[in-house]
Amino acid sequence: MMVGRPVLLAVTCASLCACASSGTPAANEPAPREPAPQPRTAEAPAPAAPLPSPEVKPEPSVATGAKRFETFGCNACHSPDGTMRAFGTMYRFFGSTIEVGAGETLVVDAAYIRRVILDPATANGRPGWRLQMPSYHGTIGDADIDHLIAYIASLR
Ligand code: HEC
Repeated sequence: MMVGRPVLLAVTCASLCACASSGTPAANEPAPREPAPQPRTAEAPAPAAPLPSPEVKPEPSVATGAKRFETFGCNACHSPDGTMRAFGTMYRFFGSTIEVGAGETLVVDAAYIRRVILDPATANGRPGWRLQMPSYHGTIGDADIDHLIAYIASLR
């Protein structure tokens, strides 16, 4: 009997076909599998230290603040050194006592400067407020505001 022979040939042919680079695999052939990923062993080195998440703000930097003071155009209206510019100077401004309305005063701090940068129109009721400073809300990020405050606070 020759029953077994064609079967053997068919198997051989199928395995040859699977190995051949040319030719479309038969429809019922399983698609070639990706090599299984190497399992992590207990000895695998620990993953590198996690990158700082975006919420972690850098330390406020006077040098960076000085650059931002120029790139955001603050220096067009405010000088850093006491010389007069369109809208005064930031020299010795931080920590000074300013008048904010009928008999009220305020000591300039980080919160006040942040408020002016984000919303100068409602920052306070300073006498002579001309509402000419643009709002930087949505333009200057939180970290850059911190840099600017550090810089302004350093001008003394
Ligand atoms: C187009 C001119 C202009 C630019 C640019 C500008 N400012 Fe001003 N700034 C003003 C004016 C004018 C005032 C006074 C408030 C008013 O009248 O709007 C002011 C007020 C301030 C005050 C409060 C001063 C006070 O006496 O209470 C701070 C702080 C300040 N600006 C910081 C900045 C910083 C930081 C930038 C850059 C991110 C900046 N300004 C950009 C015009 C400007």
